[in-house]
Amino acid sequence: MRQNNRKQNKTLVIIITAVAATGGLLFGFDTGVISGAKPFFRDFWSLTDKQIEWITTAGLFGAIFGAAFSGRITDILGRKIVIIASAVIFAIGALWTGWAGSPSSLFVGRLFIGIAIGISSYSVPMYIAEIAPTKQRGALVSAFQLLITIGIFVSYLSDLAFAEESNLESWRPMFLIGVVPAMILLIGMFFLPETPRFLIGKGNEAKGRKILERLEDPDLVEESINKMKEEIALASQSAHSWREILQPWLRTALFIGVGIMFIQQFIGINTVIYYCPEIFENAGFESKVAQIAASVSVGVVNVLFTVISMMIIDKIGRRKLYFLGVTGNVIALIALAISFAFRDSLGSSMKWVTVSLVLLYIVFFAISLGPLGWLIISEIYPLKVRGVGMSIGALSNWGFNAVVTFTFLTFLRILSPTGAFLVYAGVGVLGLIWGYYFIPETKGHTLEHIEEHWRQGKKPKEL
Ligand code: BGC
Repeated sequence: MRQNNRKQNKTLVIIITAVAATGGLLFGFDTGVISGAKPFFRDFWSLTDKQIEWITTAGLFGAIFGAAFSGRITDILGRKIVIIASAVIFAIGALWTGWAGSPSSLFVGRLFIGIAIGISSYSVPMYIAEIAPTKQRGALVSAFQLLITIGIFVSYLSDLAFAEESNLESWRPMFLIGVVPAMILLIGMFFLPETPRFLIGKGNEAKGRKILERLEDPDLVEESINKMKEEIALASQSAHSWREILQPWLRTALFIGVGIMFIQQFIGINTVIYYCPEIFENAGFESKVAQIAASVSVGVVNVLFTVISMMIIDKIGRRKLYFLGVTGNVIALIALAISFAFRDSLGSSMKWVTVSLVLLYIVFFAISLGPLGWLIISEIYPLKVRGVGMSIGALSNWGFNAVVTFTFLTFLRILSPTGAFLVYAGVGVLGLIWGYYFIPETKGHTLEHIEEHWRQGKKPKEL
């Protein structure tokens, strides 16, 4: 009987995660799609470099805005309604950008989509973390990262599929197709429950318990509810979560949340994700098709190794994966820097050296920092500040992403590829030292136990 129940629970949890994680797919799709669309709308409107920069960065500005504003809203209105709202914005944004009549209209459309990306980048992992049973939480939250990577991969592929050399309006279907996952998320979310944690927090215990009983390991239901109630009682004493999160006992968690996003972005991931055709061009690939084909290989490897990470994250644990991944990233970056320094003597083999090293870099990012960044920010905060805490994490992610993305081309010009890759490698080394002190081993702990750890003023590495 119990066996049966557990089986049912698992299926339900997987369905819930799959639909919610479609938010992750949209996040990936809508960040990746711009790379292939850009050359077409640039020529269609004969845009200047400045205009291109504005349109390209509009999505990032929107994401910063979305991440900044929605933390409180999620705590007030609930996780479900906020995800539904982001789906509506994604859908309108896809249609808007696809049918944009002018560069400024495209700019506004991208800004709008960026807001949905920013909202989903924290509300979706939060939804999954709160609804997942303790034992599967790590793997399920990484499903979000998997969907981001699938979204990026799909956007590279669909850009390739819609790209017609002679049709300067090829960018329109590239943007329009984004309406499909948006509708799946919108319709799917209507059938999914609100999280038990949110409901119990709003005083609706009966409903919260009913949902929890369908999801959690039966042995842990009572314990989870009691812990949630304790947290909620504490939360009622402090209404201002922004002020609350700055309290001394939570500072470590805040520092971890912002710190891991700093390392995740400043190790240079999006220089590869957004600029890989340019990197491959620098390495000697002349044809656009070859550059894009090489980019697609980046997309595939990114997806594959995210899957591997999901399979091992709850076995190996966060700390080991972190050190493995960041060390690998540092080695790949130093090797890239060296190969660009000896580009002339490498001749035509430079292309293959670069592709191999970029792929190696992606392998280590995908098994480690990619999923870990979003997982850690969903695990380290107590309920009362989780909304705000994750929002700060997502906000830092977008802010750091924007800085790296806007400085990469300048870096290339001033420092050369060698210098730029060495800077990112330096950040990786910093990340190893920082991580030794600050990456907590959250594997197998209830979210409530993690809160207790901070309350007792213990160190992250003692968890
Ligand atoms: C990062 C994104 C990045 C993606 C690549 C995510 O975890 O936050 O900035 O583009 O991984 O897979």
